[in-house]
Amino acid sequence: MSTSKRIAVLVSGGGTNLQALIDAQNSGQIAGGSIAAVISSKPDAYALERAARAGIPTYVVARIDYPDNQAMTVALRDKLQELDIHLVVLAGFMTILTEEIIHAFPNAILNVHPALIPSFSGEGCYGLRVHQQALAYGVKLAGATVHFVSTDCDGGPIILQKSVAVEEGDTPELLQRRVMEQAEWVLLPQAVSLFCQDRLRVEGRIVHIID
Ligand code: GAR
Repeated sequence: MSTSKRIAVLVSGGGTNLQALIDAQNSGQIAGGSIAAVISSKPDAYALERAARAGIPTYVVARIDYPDNQAMTVALRDKLQELDIHLVVLAGFMTILTEEIIHAFPNAILNVHPALIPSFSGEGCYGLRVHQQALAYGVKLAGATVHFVSTDCDGGPIILQKSVAVEEGDTPELLQRRVMEQAEWVLLPQAVSLFCQDRLRVEGRIVHIID
């Protein structure tokens, strides 16, 4: 295995997925890597407090400071390169990044999405909206996906997926919480750990997990 990987976690909000990564790291479940930075697109994201509490350096690259997503992406890419980051994890990160960062970190950016991709995904489908749409459609199985980020929004190669049952009387908030607890907080640390152990091999759209 190569040397320990420096992980940057990109956040925009509450940061419960970041917390799952911090907890996994503290209990030794992320072999081969450590969280070196947390970068937020919003200066007031609660995720920044979680990172500070865990002693992880925090940075803000605020969307509001840039004219468009591309200018913000370039600033973010430069910051990640300056910090010597090997793996970028989007954990509730709500800005769509442009190709500059994907070219700088090929197959080294992971995203967690709160649905079974390709369902309920793509531009405009994020956060609570995903669960609103899933309930309105009447699906009986929801879930989460961790995938590599490509230039196609939510369309990169899938690493891990886990289904979660929809229950009678669910609200978007109840379903969101169940998907987080049963799927996102489990899958994201697993995928990060697999990446850091060099156990993910990408062949076209297919991700092979190496024993
Ligand atoms: C999570 O459910 C995450 O999957 C979703 O936003 C929430 C962030 O929660 N991300 C997306 O919808 C991205 N397409 P968190 O800040 O508590 O981790």
